[in-house]
Amino acid sequence: MTTAALLESLSSRLPRESLFADAESLDARSADATEDLRARPELVVRPRSEAEVVALLAAAREMKFAVTPQGALTGLSGGALAVNGGVALDLTAMNEILEIDRENLFATVQAGCVTETLQNSVEAVGLFYPPDPSSRGSCTIGGNVAENAGGPRAAKYGTTGRYVSGLRVVLPGGKVLPLGGKNRKDVAGYDLLSLFVGSEGTLGVVTRATLRLLPLPSERRLLWASFGREEQALAAVARLYAAGPEPSACEFMERKAAEVSAAQLALALPADADAHLFVEVDGHEATAIAADAERIGQMLLDAGALDVRVAMNDREIRDFWRLRRAVGEAVKRLGPYAEEDCAVPRTRLPELLRAVREVARRRGLTAVCYGHAADGNIHVNVVQPPGERERWLAERDAAVAEIFRAVVALGGTITGEHGVGLTQRAYLTLRHPPEVIAAMRAVKQIFDPEGVLNPGKIF
Ligand code: LAC
Ligand code: ZN
Repeated sequence: MTTAALLESLSSRLPRESLFADAESLDARSADATEDLRARPELVVRPRSEAEVVALLAAAREMKFAVTPQGALTGLSGGALAVNGGVALDLTAMNEILEIDRENLFATVQAGCVTETLQNSVEAVGLFYPPDPSSRGSCTIGGNVAENAGGPRAAKYGTTGRYVSGLRVVLPGGKVLPLGGKNRKDVAGYDLLSLFVGSEGTLGVVTRATLRLLPLPSERRLLWASFGREEQALAAVARLYAAGPEPSACEFMERKAAEVSAAQLALALPADADAHLFVEVDGHEATAIAADAERIGQMLLDAGALDVRVAMNDREIRDFWRLRRAVGEAVKRLGPYAEEDCAVPRTRLPELLRAVREVARRRGLTAVCYGHAADGNIHVNVVQPPGERERWLAERDAAVAEIFRAVVALGGTITGEHGVGLTQRAYLTLRHPPEVIAAMRAVKQIFDPEGVLNPGKIF
């Protein structure tokens, strides 16, 4: 449908002030944080209530136009791009924190609530919402649920899904499913709640989430270990976790990743380091956490670390983490790149990086790697070497496919936390046999038989 036709059909069903057809609004909803993809919707709908989402999804099924749910557009797999045109459903105006239940430890928020806003609000009353994707300053809870977003702290605390206790979901056609709630246990029938977590906006539109909270850990230590060889750093990770105490995060950065991030922050790096691990411990008791940090520091030195620096206070912890959190944006400035969100069992990390280096060397490309080593989840950025556009275009796709084949051969997966979306669709068959993909398609068919919700994604 054209913009004019959509606008006319929806004007009678939705408030006029929730519909945006101007070029600026359409452009603003045409790109996410994935490489250089763009897809322009024909109309932007920015609802203020669930009733408006219901009206939109009823109309979509009736008139068969595409609806692509969107949050803050920080996604890294093109999952929220309106590749079939139609309506971009912008949920950012539904951003309220509806309740913080301090006795039962739950927060209920609208889908467009910014993750960090929730975190700050619950921290102000001594509570903790752990999931911490790098984009937490702008990404939304709805997007986090759609992607089952992770982040460094997923190492100890798990990804978004572990915190999702209740959802309200609007289906294509307009039915609303109230799922879960504040029960800590509930096996009354199939676990549909979990089915929607990580469904990438292809099965229903989350309008509201009830999320588990924890008491806020009062103590935190961060160790920054630098290694002469990246294999030493990666080999240390599984051993660290097997020995305990369990770090709350263990992040990896290769030399180049640390360099580009440090350059934009004007931070000095230890000389001779080929790779870095950032290892955090947290808890509720100062002496215990100090002892844990001490023990982990010794283990890192035994594993071959050249140097282990310890951040002692919140400011130092923030500075060390800034280096890690800024790297995603910094890598983008190196030039055209393709990002693979590889994940393997922890012990296979050294082999993963060896395979990546081999592919990159053979094809004359550069690979810049960093990520959530604790979860075996490494963001591999294949980057165009300066001035080598021809080679890049010729070699890029083959390099990515080879890396994914190596990942799968190591028992790994093609995406740990960024989702399949648009960019990894072609590789889903490397990860799953046909019968698994057929079962996934059958699920899609149940909830969205006309294929109007976020078409062109995952499969
Ligand atoms: C990160 C994003 C890229 O880990 O997932 O920084
Ligand atoms: Zn990540």
